[in-house]
This record gives sequence, structure tokens and C-alpha cells, in this order.
Amino acid sequence: MNLLIAGSYDEMSKLAAKRVASLIRSKPKAVLGLPTGSTPLGLYKELVAMYQDKVLSFKDITTFNLDEYEGLDCDNVNSYYRFMSDNFFNHVDINRKHTNIPMGKSEDFLKYCIEYEEKIKNSGGIDLMILGIGNNGHIGFNEPSEYFPGITHRVKLHKETIKANSRFFSCVEGVPRYAITMGIRSIMHSRSIMLLANGPGKAEAIKKAIREPITPKVPASVLQLHQDLTVIIDEEAASLLDD
Ligand code: PGA
Repeated sequence: MNLLIAGSYDEMSKLAAKRVASLIRSKPKAVLGLPTGSTPLGLYKELVAMYQDKVLSFKDITTFNLDEYEGLDCDNVNSYYRFMSDNFFNHVDINRKHTNIPMGKSEDFLKYCIEYEEKIKNSGGIDLMILGIGNNGHIGFNEPSEYFPGITHRVKLHKETIKANSRFFSCVEGVPRYAITMGIRSIMHSRSIMLLANGPGKAEAIKKAIREPITPKVPASVLQLHQDLTVIIDEEAASLLDD
């Protein structure tokens, strides 16, 4: 594991963007796994700036988003589809046909999830999976559980997640109770993984994820087994690490 502790959120975002840019420069048809949430906002801002400065192009990359709320239309302001458009895709030269986000509406979620996995496989697999981490240690919407879920699946969100994400909705009741998420196996099959976290609220989750025994009760802890994991966090998120 490669651990980088940045002095600030901005520095964390810059380090993460540099890594993404270097992958795309060495492999213009790279396949990226992408997160939503507050954590990657700075990273997306940096990538958009690189595109505007004409030092990076996204035209040949393919992306797979980690997750989506169930039941929200693409244009719902809280959908992750909309998040990606507003914060990244609409501002760069990416080919929207090569962007994939799990659909929040499906008549047959089981079938849909299997198709999403097939799409990842047919793209050649994910070169770099970028992850945030939930306060409860979740990655994507893989919530603490008794086992590590395998492939893309429908999941019931934990109360903690619903509460944490209610900051984006008008009330807690408005937060969807279910979501579609890539599974732990889908994430672990990526050739490399970059985990980002910032702020004091993530310190406990980071400590459990990278310094304590691997357990499905802290889904991110499984990342310790990945052969190419880079953890980029700010000093606050690193504050409970001993060394
Ligand atoms: P956040 O969410 O980036 O909004 O803190 C991370 C997550 O829940 O995975």
C-alpha cells in the first residue's frame, strides 16, 4: 500500500488528479471507476482545469461509476447521473457514450446488475478505481455486513448512510432507501485503486480500513489485500494513524 498524507484537501485533490492524468497520458483509452460525494469534488475540479488548460484530454477514456440511488431519474438533482454531469462530464471532452452509471430505475435489477458487470468486463476491466469512504467504512454503497458482497447488486442503505447523505436532500425522508452499487469483487478486480478521504470525520474509518484487521464490518478494510492500492488522505483524516 502506498500512503500519501496531504497537507490539505486541495493538495489531496491535486495529488489524486496528477495520478489520473498520468494514467490517461500513458493509456489514452484508460478505463476509470468513478465515485461521487463531497470527497472527489476537488479532484474533478482539478481534472476540469487540466482539460481547460489543454494539458489533458478525456476523449478516449471509458468510465464506470460505482453506484446510484434507486428510483431517481437521471435528471433528479440528487441522482449521481446528474452529479457526474454537473461536476465533471459536462465540462470535459469525454464521449458520453463511453460513460456508464448504474441506472436507478430498472424492471429487472438482477439482470441489469449482471449486464453492468459484463460491460465492465467487455471494456477490458477497470485500470484505476477511485474511491471515497463512508463514515461507516463503506466503499461504493457496500455497507458494513457479515460478508463481502461480490458483484454489482441492489443494496439497502444503512441508517448512518441515509443520515450522512441527507445533507444533500431537503429531509432525511427524501433519501432513497435502496441503491445499486458495484460489489467488492467488482472493485477488487480493478488493476489499481486510489482511496481518498479528508476531514476529521473520516479519521476513524481510515484507521479501521488500513490499520486494523480485515472485516466485512468495515468494507474498505478489504482494500488491504489489493496489490496496487494508493491511499491519499489529508492530515485530519490521517490523525488517528500511529505512524
Ligand atoms: P463523501 O462520501 O465523499 O460525501 O464523504 C463518501 C462515501 O460515502 O463513500
